[in-house]
Amino acid sequence: MKKILPSILSADFANLEKDIKYMESIGIDTFHIDVMDGNFVPNISFGFPIIESIRKRTNTTFDVHLMIANPEQYVEQFCKIGADMVSFHIEATNHADRLLQVIKDNGKKAGIVLNPQTPIESIKYLLHKVDYVLIMTVNPGFGGQKFIPEMLNKIEELDSLRKLNNYDFLIEVDGGINSETSKLCRDKGVDLLVCGSFLFNANDKVSTLKDLLS
Ligand code: DX5
Ligand code: ZN
Repeated sequence: MKKILPSILSADFANLEKDIKYMESIGIDTFHIDVMDGNFVPNISFGFPIIESIRKRTNTTFDVHLMIANPEQYVEQFCKIGADMVSFHIEATNHADRLLQVIKDNGKKAGIVLNPQTPIESIKYLLHKVDYVLIMTVNPGFGGQKFIPEMLNKIEELDSLRKLNNYDFLIEVDGGINSETSKLCRDKGVDLLVCGSFLFNANDKVSTLKDLLS
């Protein structure tokens, strides 16, 4: 089943609970949560306290996207404070296999993220054990950027490998998703679509959600 994951990076941080509750009321069951450290990416978002606070206010699934250096140092703590899905960038670690194991040992879904320039080849040997692969469709760091169309071939390549080997991981995309790019990605086999600015800036979020899946 294809699903839209609102990225709370585009929510109103002064009214985070309100924005989350509203999204829940229109059918959202999973939120995408972007953690940026000002080192791995040229921007700083938020960390543990914010996630802990919102965890207390909603039972929805939290998909935590770690855009941080040294993820091995923090991954377990994100599992413990209420993430349900945790993904790290392959470019940020030399210990991907170990990191996946830590996330799984904590009972969470484990994902690997690829920057636009990173080939599928770099994670081929891990594909049988990941729960999901997140293909960045912009350079990570900011909401509101333009979708990089060359990523469609990469998605296709990943989906072909999945079919060929009967793997059961999900494919997620993140960055520049709107009603047009959503369709292009879904047609290539994407299951989970992160959407930030396009959804949060929309006046009519109910019909925008419908557009994103039609
Ligand atoms: C970008 C983040 C995204 C961001 C997407 O680095 O990982 O999750 O919130 O925002 P939009 O949908 O506006 O491109
Ligand atoms: Zn993200």
